[in-house]
Amino acid sequence: ATNRTFTMLKPDAVEKGHIGAILEKISASGFRIVAMKLTQMTTADAEAFYAIHNERPFFPELVEYMTRGPIVAAILEKENAVEDFRTLIGATNPVDAAEGTIRKMYADSISENAVHGSDSDDNAAIEGAFHFSGREQF
Ligand code: CMP
Repeated sequence: ATNRTFTMLKPDAVEKGHIGAILEKISASGFRIVAMKLTQMTTADAEAFYAIHNERPFFPELVEYMTRGPIVAAILEKENAVEDFRTLIGATNPVDAAEGTIRKMYADSISENAVHGSDSDDNAAIEGAFHFSGREQF
């Protein structure tokens, strides 16, 4: 079925000037952009967004990274969106990501991995609503 996923082009990808190339790849892979903006997460935003990771040793580093500069937040629509987007971005650690995936091409490390993709339909809805009102979704 056609459904939606949520993505962020993370601060490292924006800093390195990869917004255009990554959006081109997303569009060419058949995803329709239904919401999008350049924004910056506050510390409180990042702590809430990544609350599931708050006991992990990398949590402070993750919050620092995700708040250090602007991100591109977007909601994407496609047949089988969540799973197909995770295939397009590749494994969390770019060292393990398949050739041609976004993380293989644009990520430097497991901690600065260029792009986020929701891991389930439920999380896609929660994460999309975190960043966008209903009126901002097309
Ligand atoms: P993502 O899977 O989108 O969401 C959780 C993030 O935490 C992950 O991307 C990485 O940015 C980060 N992360 C996951 N595992 C590690 C790790 N072992 N060390 C540092 N950061 C990590």
